[in-house]
Order: sequence, then structure tokens, then C-alpha cells
Amino acid sequence: MNEEEKMDRILQKGLLQGSVTKESRRGMLAAPVGIHSLGAYLPSRVLTNFDLEKMVDTSDEWIRTRTGISSRRIAAAEEATSDLCIKAARQALERASWPAEKLDLIIVATVTPDMCFPSTASLVQGTLGAERASAFDLMVGCTGFIYGLVMGASGIAAGAFESVLVIGAECLSRITNWEDRSTCVLFGDGAAATLLRPTEEGRGLLSFVLGNDAGGADKLKINAGGSRMPATEETVRAGEHFLKMEGNEVFKFAVRIMEEASLQALERAGLDISDVTLLVPHQANVRIMDAAAKRLNLPPERIISNVDRYGNTSAASIPIALDEAVQSGRLKKGDIALCVSFGAGLSWAAAVLRW
Ligand code: UT7
Repeated sequence: MNEEEKMDRILQKGLLQGSVTKESRRGMLAAPVGIHSLGAYLPSRVLTNFDLEKMVDTSDEWIRTRTGISSRRIAAAEEATSDLCIKAARQALERASWPAEKLDLIIVATVTPDMCFPSTASLVQGTLGAERASAFDLMVGCTGFIYGLVMGASGIAAGAFESVLVIGAECLSRITNWEDRSTCVLFGDGAAATLLRPTEEGRGLLSFVLGNDAGGADKLKINAGGSRMPATEETVRAGEHFLKMEGNEVFKFAVRIMEEASLQALERAGLDISDVTLLVPHQANVRIMDAAAKRLNLPPERIISNVDRYGNTSAASIPIALDEAVQSGRLKKGDIALCVSFGAGLSWAAAVLRW
């Protein structure tokens, strides 16, 4: 019996017992799990386009028209990613009156951990006093939060955990080449945390799509500091420890994949675009968001955008936007949120949530 036949046998058995459906293997949870509460933290220092004009050969006009960004937040010298996580996590836990001691798992999605290891999630667990929680980091670039959401929710749906904290957090200012105008104008620092718990039937994470295409691995990366190219004096001198990106290529990929992943996730949930209350896209560039919304036929009032104030905060961008949507009343009980993201890998993800 080959692998495919074996899987079909297992699936058939599950179907007969009513424990597995064909769909539950692809992009749906076995039981309802939702985002119970959120918290966010943005460092206080604001770096404006006018500040950048003094640092590199750029202009406020170029940055605003090409990206929609006016300012971004930069972490203080003494702040690292775990510090941002802690502030966001405490707010999420407080809002839910859920003590850290009751958490079963902490996932931190980031490409800017405090250090190579131990994981940032491990440091967060210690500071929060989440004694019984397991903890790990997840590195899927800007797509990391939705991957983390799906992993955490799947664990709860399977009955393995009761509550999971999923955090998207970045200090991108630490991996930015401040002499490279093609990237340094884009990124910012920030964090947001989500507390996942079981919810009632028909609510929470209704469906998801996760994808990756390593054919685009070269488009967005940091070359040095890993096992392929360990950090040396030469790699540092050559700036190989900084983020590098083929912006144009990522742009084209992003517009296409955001539409495809969104429609696929909606189909899995049995919904269509007219059911979507709010599109919560990865906040990379207002032109990418506008193009994706146009392809999806969504009017501007059904899209949340804060890229003008925070720039691209990678794995933190979707939960920060979700938190803003909830706090401002744009996302209320029963509403449908469609989250969609793309990033290094090249990876992509979409998630449909009924609030
Ligand atoms: O989260 C996932 C990660 N990344 C992204 O989502 C980014 C996706 N890509 C983008 O957002 C856009 O491609 C960028 C904003 C990065 C660039 O916009 P673009 O419209 O694709 O510009 P371009 O790279 O084609 O550059 C156009 C011109 C070039 O000059 P020449 O060759 O036409 O003379 C660049 O050198 O703009 C120049 N340029 C700048 N000029 C002023 C590039 N960066 C700057 C700058 N200020 N900061």
C-alpha cells in the first residue's frame, strides 16, 4: 500500500467514525476556537519620513506615494523583541482576566528574536510567570502570525491545550540597513498578542490557507548569521547581516497571492467576499493592499490600514491591525474578518474568522 492509499484508508476510517471529514484535513479546525482577547504594544519613538530624508537620499513624497507610509515606530535601545511581546501579552491577558499561570502554550512569530536561542517565547514564558506553558518561536516572515494562529488553534481544537497565547512581534529596526533607501523606509517595530480559547459553534477561526513556494526564497532574506554563512568580520563589513529584498518581485507576488489565498479561504468557510465585514491584510504597502482589495472587489471602508503610522511590522502587522479594529469598534461580535498575508519563503496565509 503506498502512502496515498494509506492516508485514504485512515481518512475513510475517520469518516466512518464521524471524527474526520475530508475538509477537516484541509484548512478547517476539528472544533471551534477563537481569539478571546488581544493586546498590542508600539514603541513610543516615532521615525518620520522627514527624519529619513536626513539619513538617506529619499523624500517624504516618494515614500508616501510608493508605499503609503508616513512614519514608523522604533524600539528604544534597551528594548528587545521579548520586551515588546511582554507588554502586548499582559494587555491581552488582563483584558480577558486570564492569568498567565493558566496558559498551556506560548507561540511567538518573529524573524527578529532576542537571540538565536533560547527562543523569544521561552523568555516571554519566564517573565510572564506562565509556569505550565510550553513555548516556541515560529519563523515564517510576515506570514508568521497566521501560521501561529493556525498552530495554536489546531492544538486547542484537538483537545491538547485549553489556552494558547500567539504573539506576532518584531524589532525590524535591528536588521535594517539604515543606508539602504530601498528597504529602510519600509519597516517598523511593534507587537500584538492574541489569547486563543475554545469558542461556540460557528465562531472563531472558520477556515485557513497556508502556503509556501521556495522558488522565491531568494527574494527576501538575510544571508549571514546562520549555518550557511556564519557571521564573520567580512560578512558584517559587507552588510550581509541585514535584510535584503527584491521589492518589485515581492510586490507582484503579493498582489496575486493575496487574492488567491483570500478566495480559497472563503470558499473553505462556505462564504464569499460579500460576507466579509473587514479585510485585515498584512500591512506592507498601501498600493499592495489597494490592488488586492480591487481584485477582490472590496470597497475601501471594508479594509483596515495603519501602514501610514507603523510601516511594515512583519509578523506583528496583522494582530496589531486586528487589535485596532476591535478597539475602534470596526470588528464586532458576529462580524467576518478575512486576514491575509505574504512574506519570506515566499510564504502566504489567509484566515477567516467569525468574531
Ligand atoms: O512584507 C513583505 C516584505 N516586503 C514588501 O511587501 C515590499 C513589496 N514591495 C514594495 O512595496 C515596493 O516594491 C517598494 C516600495 C519596495 C518599491 O516600490 P517600487 O514602486 O517597486 O519601486 P522600485 O523598486 O521599482 O524603484 C523605483 C525607483 C528606482 O529608481 P530608478 O532605478 O527608477 O531610477 C529606485 O532606485 O525608486 C528608487 N527608490 C527610491 N527613491 C527614493 C527606491 N527606494 C527609494 C527611496 N526613495 N526610498
